[in-house]
Amino acid sequence: MPYSVRQNPIPSFKKPAMSFSSLGLVEPLLRALDELGHATPTPVQFQAIPAVGSGRDVLAAAQTGTGKTAAFALPLLNRLTSGPRVKPNHIRALVLAPTRELAIQIAEAIAAYGKYLPLNTRVVYGGVRINPQMMRLRSGVDILVATPGRLLDLFKQNAVQFLQVETLVLDEADRMLDLGFMDDIGKILALLPKRRQNLLFSATFPEAIRALAEQLLQKPVQIEIDPPNSAAKSVKQWIYEVDKSKKPDLLCHLLRNNDWQQVLVFTRTRIGADRLVQQLADQGISALAMHGDKSQGLRARALADFKANTIRVLVATDIASRGIDINELSHVINVDLPKVAEDYMHRIGRTGRAGLGGAAISLVSADEVNLLSAIETLLGQLLVREVAAGFIPQQSVPLTRLMTARPKKPKKPKQRQAPTQAEGQQPANEGESGHRKPRKGEDQDGEKLRGPAGGRRPQRNSKK
Ligand SMILES: Nc1ncnc2c1ncn2[C@@H]1O[C@H](COP(=O)(O)OP(=O)(O)OP(=O)(O)O)[C@@H](O)[C@H]1O
Ligand SMILES: [Mg+2]
Repeated sequence: MPYSVRQNPIPSFKKPAMSFSSLGLVEPLLRALDELGHATPTPVQFQAIPAVGSGRDVLAAAQTGTGKTAAFALPLLNRLTSGPRVKPNHIRALVLAPTRELAIQIAEAIAAYGKYLPLNTRVVYGGVRINPQMMRLRSGVDILVATPGRLLDLFKQNAVQFLQVETLVLDEADRMLDLGFMDDIGKILALLPKRRQNLLFSATFPEAIRALAEQLLQKPVQIEIDPPNSAAKSVKQWIYEVDKSKKPDLLCHLLRNNDWQQVLVFTRTRIGADRLVQQLADQGISALAMHGDKSQGLRARALADFKANTIRVLVATDIASRGIDINELSHVINVDLPKVAEDYMHRIGRTGRAGLGGAAISLVSADEVNLLSAIETLLGQLLVREVAAGFIPQQSVPLTRLMTARPKKPKKPKQRQAPTQAEGQQPANEGESGHRKPRKGEDQDGEKLRGPAGGRRPQRNSKK
């Protein structure tokens, strides 16, 4: 599927004075950018392109939908135009992402930007046969985009060698460094050459994760666009107070009474997502579910149908909250609030991207008041509350106030938490080579193996 890109310059992106051509990018990249309609660099691109180009480590925080992919992809492609040829089964740059869909999207974006360069980009991820991926690695790969579990499986099978790796990119870096991925990331870091460039990008960097990240980086250039952990301003947010049992009815009511054509709905559990799809179908609303219990084929199909507007509603777990770019998506609805406040930022950031506007609505019941409060504290604002006609809650959501964020003490390293066997969740640690279930540390829906930030330290092995 071609990478969806805006065909016109986006008017409301702040326009730095310079153009892409003044950032030292080679002509084939400028030609591709021109064709894709990327006329001016976004603020994070403007700062990251020279920083990455200089060879330094970079930690970049910028809001959702502000072009972080190109901010690392363009200077990476630019740098790789020089240097030694890649050897068979070797790779020159490694980009790690938390979900299969995001890995695919990043690879498509890099391939689109690098269209006129003699560099090859490949993607590997779990849930599909490993053999074709092994074949594609044979002649060597300039940029490999991967989910961690499948990458380790490929390494174990001798299909990939890391000796030539010049640059490591962690997209959604805070997610990659939290407990759910730490084991696999630690193993991968130990396999990479000590001398390499490290690039960490995300819209959110909780303090404890930032501390972990800094151990991995060598004198990084730190890029901070807008206040840390801030939500995209382009997203209008509000909540509906509602009784828990009435949430599906309220969702149907909102969908029936509003002309919203493409709505991404988040639920906390897989079983909740399936149940909701059924309830929507009963009301004649076309919807599909996307979560970690679906086969990769069904997941890909659901996302593709949603992007193509064949279905009106995609009901997803947090597997879809990070990085996924859906052209002009106008509405996100949280039927449950996420347990981790940062996930709220990522969920709502699926709309209001590339300078466009969007709306994020959360259906909040009384039992979720603490989650609401944590989200509001992270946002630094109280969310506007509404009550829909006919849905006056019997149990109203207690009033919240902003907590003053105190700097958290780093927690002592502790044992990996057992995965929460929440409603509808499968046990973790299932073989990646299987076709259905994601393995530990790979492509989880977001609630398994999430632990308090800072539980583990990444191995520092990036001395230059
Ligand atoms: N300079 C640019 N001009 C116009 N559009 C751009 C530009 N850079 C990126 N875009 C478009 O903006 C959209 C969002 O980009 P991208 O997915 O890289 O955002 P992101 O910052 O990584 O968001 P997230 O935090 O959600 O991962 C994409 O559709 C991309 O094609
Ligand atoms: Mg991104």
